[in-house]
Amino acid sequence: MGLATVPAAATETNTDSDVMSLDAHIAAQEMVFLQRQPASAALVERARRSLAGGATSNWQIAQPQAVWLSHGSGSKIYDVDGKEYVDLHGGYGVSLVGHAHPALVKAVSDRVARGTHFAQPTGDAIVVAEELARRFGLPLWRFGNSGTEATMDAVHLMRAATGRDLIIKVEGCYHGHHDSVEVSILPELEDAGPAERPVGVAGNTGIPQSFIDLVVVVGFNDADAVARVLAEHPGRVAGMIVEPVMMNAGIIPPEPGYLEAVRDLLHGDGALLAFDEVKTGLTVSPGGATAAYGVTPDIICLAKAMGGGLPVAAIGGTAELMGLIADGTYEQVGTFNGNPLSMAAARATLLEALTPEAYARIEALRIRMHERVTRVLRDNDLPWSVVTSGAKGCISFLDRPVRNFRDFADVDERLGHLHWLVQHNGGVFLPPWGKVEQWLLSVQHDEDDVDRFVANVETFATLVKG
Ligand SMILES: Cc1ncc(COP(=O)(O)O)c(C=O)c1O
Repeated sequence: MGLATVPAAATETNTDSDVMSLDAHIAAQEMVFLQRQPASAALVERARRSLAGGATSNWQIAQPQAVWLSHGSGSKIYDVDGKEYVDLHGGYGVSLVGHAHPALVKAVSDRVARGTHFAQPTGDAIVVAEELARRFGLPLWRFGNSGTEATMDAVHLMRAATGRDLIIKVEGCYHGHHDSVEVSILPELEDAGPAERPVGVAGNTGIPQSFIDLVVVVGFNDADAVARVLAEHPGRVAGMIVEPVMMNAGIIPPEPGYLEAVRDLLHGDGALLAFDEVKTGLTVSPGGATAAYGVTPDIICLAKAMGGGLPVAAIGGTAELMGLIADGTYEQVGTFNGNPLSMAAARATLLEALTPEAYARIEALRIRMHERVTRVLRDNDLPWSVVTSGAKGCISFLDRPVRNFRDFADVDERLGHLHWLVQHNGGVFLPPWGKVEQWLLSVQHDEDDVDRFVANVETFATLVKG
């Protein structure tokens, strides 16, 4: 099926755009959205009887309704209503190789036929570890299954290595759903204290206050805050975990010198630095933000894109730190660690799909996306900007650069939602919660995919401008 057509209702809303508020545009686009999704609606209805909330993760429950998918191929995905989308959702930052990439299909098919689980290592694990060491510049690696597991191991390791309990975490960074990091993810500002001294706020229910008390929250791009925390808690900070480019609050790059400064401050205090590269790893550059910014931390956490769509994660570390795993001081374990199917997928992803040529192609598409969306914003006198980082990008719905979560909190979330709806109704699948998330290009996208996105931005801009 070709590009989904937008029913008459949407066209009518366009005509009236000069008198319509943002809320009215959202209501009109949600109506179009629902008209396009009857089969999804039926599945949601049925699913509610056996799946809590009618979905398999709370973050799959988009407004106005979860979209149920049938399959994906190349840069496209197809919903159960037969609608085609250019996939820029990328499964929350996973699908850097696109869908059904021939190298992945072959590697996984070959492996399935030879057995998929032994809880004993297979040769692919060495190849994957060697390639990660080459790309990220840290010598020793271990595997897990999700980003949450990777950051959990990183926090445990920092504590195990230092014998200290406190962790420094950046406000607005998301590191998965374990107790030590579910703090100040998207806090309400009235709960969050002053920007220069944020208060730790539980990021979920079920997190004991005693865990929150072990996390000291700082703003992004604020090395002085890290220095202050270290001075106020001498000899008590195990380490700091940070997304080196923030990617769960739009995209916020580190200011020049910030990553080096926090690394040096932490090391000066005998504390450690963990980069959560679950989103940035492989997408920002072949060696993630670590290679792109030239700052190597003590631990790197990877997941998402490295498995080409299969669940796999990794932690990499210095010989000294990973020595604690090697000698059994820290038990890094898991039944599915190094699962043969995941390792086969990771090997094909790294060595056959994410080639230098593939990165060059993504870079060309990044530039096209950046320039064309920027032009649409300028032509429509919209004061926003485009932020791109390798395969990732977003529109920042603010009239000034965003340097931390407090800046980001000023974004009107209705803009992100309306943009998401307009893209969706126009045949482009973005991550729901459009304010927070951003697009992911893949090695299988092409210029036409980018241009479909840009055309929808034009429609969106026209609606907002009124
Ligand atoms: C930066 C970052 N770290 C960790 C995670 C957790 O990964 P997972 O959902 O695989 O547990 C995420 C998930 O979005 C993430 O964006």
